[in-house]
Amino acid sequence: MPRGFLAIAALLVSLSLIPFAVATKNRAARKSEPRRQIIPDMDQQPKFKAQQANPLFADRRAMRPEVLGTVARGRLAEDDALARGKEGGEWTLSIPVPVTESLLKRGRERYDIYCSPCHGLDGGGAGIISVRAESFEEGTWTPPPSFHTDLIRERPAGHIYNTLANGIRSMPGYAGQIPPEDRWAVVAYLRALQRSRSASPEDVPADILPKIR
Ligand code: HEC
Repeated sequence: MPRGFLAIAALLVSLSLIPFAVATKNRAARKSEPRRQIIPDMDQQPKFKAQQANPLFADRRAMRPEVLGTVARGRLAEDDALARGKEGGEWTLSIPVPVTESLLKRGRERYDIYCSPCHGLDGGGAGIISVRAESFEEGTWTPPPSFHTDLIRERPAGHIYNTLANGIRSMPGYAGQIPPEDRWAVVAYLRALQRSRSASPEDVPADILPKIR
């Protein structure tokens, strides 16, 4: 090895670290000028992140709490029956919105998306998740009940509304995914599913009856 090789190698290695040191120092330093960017592709976004301090507010919190006594636009849930399924402290017995064909169609669509995986497309309780969970035989799965029992048939509409919004026992609530209008649509469709199992020929309109006999 020629003499002085190690010294030169060490010097070169030290010199090669200088650009990194300069870059690191510049990244950490606070400057009043915007940073120079070779490709300005939105990696500089002035904003306050969660938990950061914000000198604009007296309490210096960037995350602002809700303003007391205010309600977000369109969120004023004045109607107890509509918003909570309750009337005078009791569950509403009937659906507080007009039950139209389009409401039922919407309800069917929402039901098929959010409820059928557990409760089954027909409400019998044999949804694909439940069938699979039971197949593991772990004994930890609470099977969803069939909607075609007297117990669920006699549940007030408001009770079902509350069940799908806030959950019940081991079932989670779906208020986050299903807004109030749609919740009633799902309740209406659930009622239609129940009727489909317990209907009599008298329930069929007279002009349609001959066609299905
Ligand atoms: C992740 C599976 C799952 C999904 C999805 C689900 N449920 Fe349930 N549901 C259950 C289970 C489990 C129970 C029984 C809970 C218990 O007894 O612990 C139940 C119970 C119920 C009951 C009966 C409660 C009672 O005793 O009155 C109703 C009504 C119901 N669900 C409606 C719905 C509707 C409507 C949807 C769609 C928005 C839905 N569920 C979505 C699992 C589910």
